[in-house]
Amino acid sequence: MHKRVSTGIAKLDQMLGGGLPIGAIVTVIGCPGSGKTLLAAKFIYEGAATYGETGVYVCLTEPKDVFISTMKSYGWDFEELVDRGFVEVLDLSIGTELESQSAFNKIAAALSKVSAKRLAIDSLTALNIGLKDDVSRRHLIRILYRVLKKTNCTSLLILETPLNYNSFGSMMEEFIADGIIHLNQYYNDDGTLTRTLRVFKMRGTSHEIKIRKYIITDKGVEIL
Ligand SMILES: Nc1ncnc2c1ncn2[C@@H]1O[C@H](COP(=O)(O)OP(=O)(O)OP(=O)(O)O)[C@@H](O)[C@H]1O
Ligand SMILES: [Mg+2]
Repeated sequence: MHKRVSTGIAKLDQMLGGGLPIGAIVTVIGCPGSGKTLLAAKFIYEGAATYGETGVYVCLTEPKDVFISTMKSYGWDFEELVDRGFVEVLDLSIGTELESQSAFNKIAAALSKVSAKRLAIDSLTALNIGLKDDVSRRHLIRILYRVLKKTNCTSLLILETPLNYNSFGSMMEEFIADGIIHLNQYYNDDGTLTRTLRVFKMRGTSHEIKIRKYIITDKGVEIL
């Protein structure tokens, strides 16, 4: 059995049979506001703060300073982890940086700078925007896959979807990745926003096959 890496969320670790398989490359798929950033940030934060594992968080959808100050409101002080050399937060949110090859080179350099054990890319969708066609997309993700497998780095790669996304297999990233965690939200009949999480795929391990409800609080994602 693979050694496990905690997600930072105990109930999600249980759903995964003890955590993510070490070195797994997992896509976190969800619609706007579903908690993708909070899930990935907690994975990097707890990895460093609780387990002493180095990590890289790549901001492509929001600027680094906005990310850092938002995360402080959940009690996750990334600035301190960066100062101590445990974490690197990469700001690739600016238009010109979206040239995907150069962004990829910066990610690879950051991984080697801190000898990263964990990586979060927020988001892979944004990283791919700079690529002209599916062949280039597949090429980039394959190179990324090879680099991550070589270092045994465990990774969460965020994919953005529309509301009510349910057509797994329409994005090539879903096939290349070792696992898929899907965050969904919908409105109940009484008009309440309801959130559900499922582990849709996780190579090399058994995992929870039931959909679980979750809430978002000032502690981040909490599975019910
Ligand atoms: N303290 C809180 N209490 C309740 N809900 C919260 C709290 N903080 C955030 N949320 C909810 O979490 C959502 C933001 O989560 P997050 O930024 O992780 O989503 P996301 O999936 O990354 O969104 P995007 O696709 O826009 O980047 C908010 O839209 C809000 O609904
Ligand atoms: Mg986000």
